[in-house]
Amino acid sequence: MSNFKESYSLSRAMCAIAMFFVGVSCSENEDLSFENGINSKEGQAKMLANTPPNLPNVPFSYNVILPAYLTTPQINRQNNTPDNNPTTDNGATLGRVLFYDKALSLNQTVACANCHQQNHAFSDPARFSRGFNGGLTTRNSMSLLNARFYPNGRFFWDERSATAEIQASRPIVHPVEMGMTMTSLISRLNTLNYYPSLYQKAFGTNTIDSAQTVKAIAQFIRSMVSYRSKYDVGRASLALNANIRQVNFPNFTPQENQGKAIFFGVGNCGACHGTDTFSAPSAKNNGLDVNATDNGVGGITGIQNQNGLFKVPSLKGVEKSAPYMHDGRFRTLEDVVEHYNSQVRPHPNLSPEMRNPNGQPRRLNLSTADKAALVAFLKTLTDTGIETDPKFSNPF
Ligand code: HEC
Ligand code: HEC
Repeated sequence: MSNFKESYSLSRAMCAIAMFFVGVSCSENEDLSFENGINSKEGQAKMLANTPPNLPNVPFSYNVILPAYLTTPQINRQNNTPDNNPTTDNGATLGRVLFYDKALSLNQTVACANCHQQNHAFSDPARFSRGFNGGLTTRNSMSLLNARFYPNGRFFWDERSATAEIQASRPIVHPVEMGMTMTSLISRLNTLNYYPSLYQKAFGTNTIDSAQTVKAIAQFIRSMVSYRSKYDVGRASLALNANIRQVNFPNFTPQENQGKAIFFGVGNCGACHGTDTFSAPSAKNNGLDVNATDNGVGGITGIQNQNGLFKVPSLKGVEKSAPYMHDGRFRTLEDVVEHYNSQVRPHPNLSPEMRNPNGQPRRLNLSTADKAALVAFLKTLTDTGIETDPKFSNPF
């Protein structure tokens, strides 16, 4: 929110300067009502063009060699990178610039990064996120860490986008989030003089179009792989075929190892947040409500036994992605753990992994020490490497 305010006053200041030099008027209402801001705010668009992003001469490497345990056949099957859009260093670099560019929103106040912040596992610490015009989203922003690893490749809490490429245009044209049309975005990008060479390097042509734009954004999103957490240090010290569910990690405290044993053992968390990517196999219902107002996947497909199913973002970085769940109802990991411990509700589509043999919602009956251990384990998934890596930071 403070970002929003800051950038908004910046754009107001630019407006004032533009008024002075080229005589355009920019009252607050006009700012928000122009279709694409190009004709009437030429001055402003040109000024943005004069602040190109700071990029290294040799692009950052977005194709790092991942540890062996993240390239097994099982993990490769979770990878949703399509053959026609492999991640390249120049493609992801263009994606990074687009991700941080406020020119993607109608009044040039909001970038993707406003709602997907690097130091918050690329999610938003606010329960609901503020769009370009001050409106709020109806769901909690999602962490983007490990979005590459979701086998059906679908995106959003309700899986409504079939691919990351399709997903990428949605916030741009969303009436609350960024308020553009793809046509107006492409005209605007053509007026910013740093883009042609970035498209040239990424795709071998300096013609800017929407297919390339969404491909570049998707490449950047898929490059956000987490492999530098405390969990990873422990995992890397074990053999590839080690039984991670049972073997204690040498770098963990006894409490963290106890939490790991609960996560993969009695807690059965690993059944849905599984493998070394901590990604879900598909959307599930985890018993938040008996009657949900938001039907998740079922709300999109109209299929009743998909009501209440939601995509689960990877738990890598989860300490930083608070608040939690599709509606951001839980403020802390302690609240989340208490939900699984004692509050799971009997939604008709509650996943079998969370039921007792008699079909009733499971109760874990964890002790206070067990719950604290589970939280301590979840915090070993925090990835300070990706949070501070310049290749994911704001280039402007
Ligand atoms: C105003 C806030 C806001 C802005 C701006 C925004 N997002 Fe989001 N993003 C959200 C919210 C909220 C969700 C969850 C929406 C839902 O599932 O219905 C989301 C979901 C996503 C997802 C789905 C992740 C997954 O695992 O399924 C991706 C990817 C994403 N956003 C990328 C972007 C990109 C790229 C941009 C810029 C082009 C962007 N977002 C701009 C708020 C925002
Ligand atoms: C039946 C599958 C399933 C099991 C088992 C399960 N979860 Fe979840 N988990 C989900 C789903 C589905 C969501 C998202 C639900 C929503 O937002 O509506 C979720 C969300 C979460 C979140 C919030 C993620 C975010 O970014 O908002 C955390 C943290 C979490 N689970 C931890 C756990 C822990 C700890 C356990 C074990 C005690 C566990 N889960 C067991 C399916 C499961």
